[in-house]
Amino acid sequence: MIDSWTLSETPCAFDRRLGTDALFTLGNGYLGCRGFFEEEQEGVEALGGIYMAGVFGKGDLKAWKGMHRELVNTPNFLWMSIRVDGEPVLARPRRISSYKRLLNMRTGTMTRSFIWKSARGIQVRFEFERFMSVADLHVAGQRLRITPLNGKPRIELVSGINANVKQHNLVTTIPLPIQPGRPHLRTLKAAGNVIETQVETLPDGVKIVEGQRIAVEGPAGRIRGVPAPAPGLVAERFVFNGRVNETVQLTKTIHYFTSRDGQAMTLLKKSMARAKDYDRLLQAHQRAWVNKWREIDIEIDGAMDDQQAVRFNLFQLVQACPEHDSRVSLGARGLSGEMHEGSVFWDNEIFKLPFFTFAHPPATRSMLRFRHRTLPEARRHAKDLWFEGAMYAWKSGDDGVEETEMGVGAYYAIHIIADIAYALRQYWEATGDDDFLFRYGTEILIETARFWKSRIHYDPIRKTHNILAVRGPNEYDVIVNNNCFTNMMVQENMRYAGEAVAFIQKTDPSAWRKLAARLKLKPREIDAWKTCAKGLVISYDKQRDLYAEDDMYLHRVPFDMKRGKPDARRVIDSTLPYEAMAYYQITKQSDVVTLMNLLPWKFTPRQKKLAYEFYEPKTAHDSSLSFTPHAVMAARLGMKKEAYRYFRECAYLDIADRQLNTISGLHFANLGGTWQAVIQGFAGLYQHDNRLYLAPHLPSAWQALRFRVNYRGALLQVEMRGCKTTVTLERAGTQPISLNLDGRSVRLIRVGQMVSV
Ligand code: BGC
Repeated sequence: MIDSWTLSETPCAFDRRLGTDALFTLGNGYLGCRGFFEEEQEGVEALGGIYMAGVFGKGDLKAWKGMHRELVNTPNFLWMSIRVDGEPVLARPRRISSYKRLLNMRTGTMTRSFIWKSARGIQVRFEFERFMSVADLHVAGQRLRITPLNGKPRIELVSGINANVKQHNLVTTIPLPIQPGRPHLRTLKAAGNVIETQVETLPDGVKIVEGQRIAVEGPAGRIRGVPAPAPGLVAERFVFNGRVNETVQLTKTIHYFTSRDGQAMTLLKKSMARAKDYDRLLQAHQRAWVNKWREIDIEIDGAMDDQQAVRFNLFQLVQACPEHDSRVSLGARGLSGEMHEGSVFWDNEIFKLPFFTFAHPPATRSMLRFRHRTLPEARRHAKDLWFEGAMYAWKSGDDGVEETEMGVGAYYAIHIIADIAYALRQYWEATGDDDFLFRYGTEILIETARFWKSRIHYDPIRKTHNILAVRGPNEYDVIVNNNCFTNMMVQENMRYAGEAVAFIQKTDPSAWRKLAARLKLKPREIDAWKTCAKGLVISYDKQRDLYAEDDMYLHRVPFDMKRGKPDARRVIDSTLPYEAMAYYQITKQSDVVTLMNLLPWKFTPRQKKLAYEFYEPKTAHDSSLSFTPHAVMAARLGMKKEAYRYFRECAYLDIADRQLNTISGLHFANLGGTWQAVIQGFAGLYQHDNRLYLAPHLPSAWQALRFRVNYRGALLQVEMRGCKTTVTLERAGTQPISLNLDGRSVRLIRVGQMVSV
């Protein structure tokens, strides 16, 4: 029987030990802590795997501005060394039994237990527990219960905060020797139970301060510890004689701050001084999770495994979101691993923000504010490349500087700029947050529209407006002209800019005057956006009613997918060089299909079906971003089996390590994508023209689906059972809510009002 609130691992996967650590990540948006084994590292080296939002060190790729950053592996504050009769306790085959690692998603805790057997036959049960508080972002907790099962072992326990950590350098689960990378941290101070370190690979590297409080209790009372310092380590040692079936318990609370928070040491001392005990901190944390789940949960009747997988994806997505800090956003692997160096890409806006916009809008607001904060850098970037307005980086750390390696296409992958505009408009439409639009959104829309105006080339021979030399979502086509996705999203971007200007002019003329003066906006610019958008070439084959990825795709050589991709888990560029891709009709990841999901009102059902049938066999799904759009589109087209198959690709992508690289972090676009597959696909949700659309397309394995949607300040509870949809207004918004339920228009006004279709 599956417990849909937990994810567990039993027995121990010795051969792929680090491979599953990312799945058991716990976090609170401030930091993410992989599910590593506390006692695993002997000596002072401690691989750990704790990442803090915005804590970067210097990486070694050559990026645009000569500086490339990577998320830093910070001190391992769960570090322990355990010895029984002098023998180290390590999880090794034939030494441990009854192993279980469990992620409790309802309470946000991870537990791990096993029975360890010494060389001389002494057996001891170990039970670990940990949490990263979502009630207080600067606190974590750790518990260990030790129970001897025979003999009279002498047990030595050293518990500490260990700054001797290095980067993981993990890429794939295919067995490879692990060669930890560079360390980023220098220890500045280590005294008593407090350690201060600094990221020394950057000139103004962040300082991290951490402190611990440990209590060890046995049946005979408190066991006192002695300091056990070592270079880069603050620790306490506890020694006791174990007795059969008598449990000794260690509880530890950890407090952490960085110089990004202000006077880190002062903040740390205050936090430690007001510290509550482990159990009270744990309870506050669990209560906070109850509230989170009330908002975000999706309930499925009929398939417990799908229910569990969906909760896993939502849980991981939510607990990595740095909603508290608009100076950072949510990286491609969140805070669960080092791949993509903690950077943010287009997938944030297109795959993750839809979930937050409808489930927890303040998080979207914060991440869009991050884009506003980095606008000055985007302006600089545009100027450096001889364009106007703002050119957002393809890959950004915390300051918006282009972090992509030189020469791998960031100059072309500019659809991200329109994707940001799209997410912003979606947020504004879904929330009615005019304050956001006035203060931040309009400026972003104007500056991005200006960028497009300067990037669009008017061809005097063909008399057309073109966007040349781009890379669309299909990144196997490195440089194409008039990528359909890009051009249509640009049209939207320019339209949104014009509409935002008109809205602010009408609703707040004085705010408008100030903004227009600051941005030196001329009325003729707005007219020029309209002309450019209207004249943009849209690659489309009229005869076949088929939207083309770009102006060459349909003329390329058909690709032999079986030969090019014999193993579904391996990407094509392991069988063919990257350079060869542009010769063929191969789509790395969904492109036109994604576009049609984003702007569903722009295409007829026939056009969508034709596009799906044409591109689907040509799509290699060599990115985790590819399954979701197929699941959504197939569901909306009523292709239930296909939709369900793709949904399962998304929902289990990390749990089953489908791409053999979950070791390097969870795939955050796909976590958001799982929400999209369920809510935008099976429940058919989208918004257009001040109306929210819902239409049930449930897979036959599911009897019912329940979830909540935030829309215009209102909270809607939706239940779909077979073909029937019921919507209840749980909280009223500022105005009546207009819905389109499976083709029927309805309005919700009063709290408690319920409509069924
Ligand atoms: C995808 C990109 C994406 C990046 C980060 C790559 O595999 O192809 O489109 O932005 O991952 O998630």
